[in-house]
Amino acid sequence: MTSLPDSPPRGVDQAPASDPVLRVERLRKTFPVSLGRRRTTLHAVDEVSFTISRGETYALVGESGCGKSSVARCVTRLHEPTDGLVEVLGTDVTHLSRRELRPLRPGFQLVFQDPFSSLDPSHTVAALVSEPLRVQRRPHDRDLVAGLLAEVGLGPELLKRRPHELSGGQRQRVVIARSLALGPDLLVLDEPVAALDASVQAQVINVLRDLQRRRGLAYLFISHDLGVVANLADRIGVMYLGRIVEEGTVEEVLGAPQHPYTQALVSAIPVSDPAQRDSSARIRLQGEPPSPIDRPTGCSFAPRCWLAEDRCRTETPALVRRAGTDHPVACLLTGDPVGAGRPVAG
Ligand SMILES: Nc1ncnc2c1ncn2[C@@H]1O[C@H](COP(=O)(O)OP(=O)(O)OP(=O)(O)O)[C@@H](O)[C@H]1O
Ligand code: SF4
Ligand SMILES: [Mg+2]
Repeated sequence: MTSLPDSPPRGVDQAPASDPVLRVERLRKTFPVSLGRRRTTLHAVDEVSFTISRGETYALVGESGCGKSSVARCVTRLHEPTDGLVEVLGTDVTHLSRRELRPLRPGFQLVFQDPFSSLDPSHTVAALVSEPLRVQRRPHDRDLVAGLLAEVGLGPELLKRRPHELSGGQRQRVVIARSLALGPDLLVLDEPVAALDASVQAQVINVLRDLQRRRGLAYLFISHDLGVVANLADRIGVMYLGRIVEEGTVEEVLGAPQHPYTQALVSAIPVSDPAQRDSSARIRLQGEPPSPIDRPTGCSFAPRCWLAEDRCRTETPALVRRAGTDHPVACLLTGDPVGAGRPVAG
C-alpha cells in the first residue's frame, strides 16, 4: 500500500490557526412555496450562527426537516443564503458567483449520505477519486490516487473496480478519498454514515477521526443520530425548526442538556446495557414539529413542550448563556440571560 504523506496537500491558503475555518453568522434560508394558489415562504434556516476551528468537529443535530441540510448547502454554496454571512478561511463566500467560487472550491467539500448519488456508476474508482484533480487541471498519477485511497483505509486493488462492485462502506470511503483530493480545510459531512450498518459506521467514523488528526481538517458533521455524534464531535448545535436551540461541547450538551427538546433527544440515545437505563427517564415527544411555513409565535417548541407557560407563546427565547447554565440555551425557563449572547430575532 502507498505510504501516507506526513504533511497533507493544501488547496488554498491556510488561515492562521486562531482564525475559524468556517464562520456562519445569522444565516437565513427561505424558500418560496405555493400552497394551492397562495404563494408563501418556508423558513428552512433562521438566524443560525456558529464557527468551526481547524481540527474541530461541529455537529448539527435535530429531527428530519429542521434545516440541517439547508445549512450544509448554504455553507457549500449549493444554495445561496437568503441573509447572513458564510465565511470560509476568512473569505466571505455568501454571495459569490460560481466563477468567483471556483478558485476557493478546493478548500471546502460536501460529502452526502448516499455515495451512489455522487459516484458515476460507469467510472472506475481511480477515475472517480482523481476527478477533482482533472477538473482543476492538477497533476495526478496512480500513486497519488492510491495514496488517497490508503488514507481512507482502502487498498490499490480497488482502483479498477466500479461503484457497484464495492460495499456501502467502501463506496463512502471512496467518496471521502475523492473529497480529500484537492487538500480541503473543511469537510461538510451530511449524514455520511446514516445509510451504513452500525459496525461499518464505526469504521468510517474512525477513518474520519484519523484523517482529522493527520490533516487538521475542520468538520461540519450533520446527523440525526446523537450516538454517532457523541463519538466524533467536539461541539454540538441542536436545531429545531430552523434555529439552534442549544449549543456547547459534547459534555455540556449531551451530559447536561438544558433545553427540553435536547433533553428529549438525549433521553432517546440507545444505551448498550438496557439495564442501565431507567425506562421512565425516556421523554417521548408528542406530535410533529410545526410547519416551517406556519411557525408558531414565541418559542417554536411550545406546542410540544411539557413545561410551556403562557409567555412561551409570545416571547421568542434568544440563544444565550443563562443563569445556571454554562452554555447557550434558547429556553425562557432555563434562566435569565447572562452577559452578551447572540440575539435571535422574534
Ligand atoms: N429546495 C427546497 N424548496 C422548498 N423547500 C425546501 C427545499 N429544500 C428544503 N426545503 C424544506 O426546508 C426544510 C428543511 O429541510 P432540510 O432538508 O434542510 O432538513 P434536514 O434537517 O436536512 O432534514 P433530514 O434530516 O430529513 O435530511 C424542510 O421543511 C424542507 O421541506
Ligand atoms: S421557552 Fe417555554 S416552550 Fe420553549 S422550550 Fe423553554 S419552556 Fe418550553
Ligand atoms: Mg438532510
